[in-house]
Amino acid sequence: MPTDPAGPPIGNILLVGCGKMGGALLGGWIEQGIAPQNITIIEPNETALPGAMPAEIGVCAALDELSDDYRPQTVLFAVKPQIMADVAPPYARFADGAVFVSIAAGKTITNFEEMLGSDAAIIRIMPNTPAAIRRGISVACANASVSDAARDRVSCMLGAVGELAWIEDENLMDAVTAVSGSGPAYVFLLAECMAAAGIKAGLPEELAIALARATVSGSGELIRQSVETVGTLRQNVTSPGGTTEAALGVLMADDGLQKLMDTAIAAAAKRSEELAS
Ligand SMILES: NC(=O)c1ccc[n+]([C@@H]2O[C@H](COP(=O)([O-])OP(=O)(O)OC[C@H]3O[C@@H](n4cnc5c(N)ncnc54)[C@H](OP(=O)(O)O)[C@@H]3O)[C@@H](O)[C@H]2O)c1
Repeated sequence: MPTDPAGPPIGNILLVGCGKMGGALLGGWIEQGIAPQNITIIEPNETALPGAMPAEIGVCAALDELSDDYRPQTVLFAVKPQIMADVAPPYARFADGAVFVSIAAGKTITNFEEMLGSDAAIIRIMPNTPAAIRRGISVACANASVSDAARDRVSCMLGAVGELAWIEDENLMDAVTAVSGSGPAYVFLLAECMAAAGIKAGLPEELAIALARATVSGSGELIRQSVETVGTLRQNVTSPGGTTEAALGVLMADDGLQKLMDTAIAAAAKRSEELAS
C-alpha cells in the first residue's frame, strides 16, 4: 500500500462525486502528496471535474466502468444527500476491505449500514467549503466496524484540507452541520448584507463590496491569528460612546443577531434531521 510522506498508508481512494466538496478534497489530497495513481473518481458530470488534474487519476462516469479487480481501501461519497439512496447501494461490493466515508448532510451511519451492510465500516463526516483553500473544519464520527488504521487514513485525508475533530455521539452531527457545514454561507451573507447596507448609506457599489469583503476576510484572519477570544476582539473595536457601540446596540439587542442566529441554526439542524429519512 502506498505511503503518504507525512502519514499512514493511504491505499486506493474511490471518490464518488467530484463537485464542490469532492473537488476541494481532491485538491487537498494532491497538494498533500497522495499518489494520484491511487485516486479514482466516479463522476457522471464531466464539467464538474477540476480543470487541471494529474493525468494519473482514474476517472469513470459510472461504477460499472471500473475493472472487476479494482479494490479501494476508502470509498468517499460526495454526492447530494437526496440521491444517496440511489447511488450508494451498489458500492456494497467493496464492503469487505474498504471503509465508506460520507460527507452528505443528514445521512446517518444507520442509513449507510442499511445501504451497505450492517458490518460495513462507515465514517460520517461534515466538512465545510473553506476546505477548498485547505482551511476547512470537519467533524467525524465512526461506527464500531472502523479499524484504527482506517481512522488514521481518513484523519490524514481530511487533515489535508483543514482541521478535523472526532466525536463519539452522532446525534451532535445535526448541530455540527448547522454551525460549521452551512456556516460559511452565513458569513458570506454577512458580507453581502454589509455591502448592501453600505450602498444604502451612500457608498458607490464597488467600494461597498470591496469594504465588506476585506472587512470580513481580514477579521476572519485576525480571529485565526489572535490569541484573544472573539469577544475581546469585538470589545477592542468598541469605544464607549463611539460608532461601533451604536451599531452593536442594534445587533446585540434582545431581538438582534443572536436571536436570528439561534433561529437559523435551529432551522438548519432540523433540516439535517429530516434528510436522514
Ligand atoms: N457544499 C457544501 O458547502 C457542503 C458542505 C458540507 C457537506 N456537503 C455535502 O457534500 C456533498 C456534495 O455536495 P456538493 O456541494 O459538492 O455537491 P455538488 O457540487 O453537486 O457535487 C456532487 C457531484 O456528484 C455528481 N454525481 C451525481 N450523481 C452521481 C453518481 N451517481 N455518482 C457519482 N457522482 C455523481 C454530481 O453530478 P451532477 O451535477 O451531474 O448531478 C456533482 O458533480 C453533499 O452530500 C453535501 O451535503 C457540502
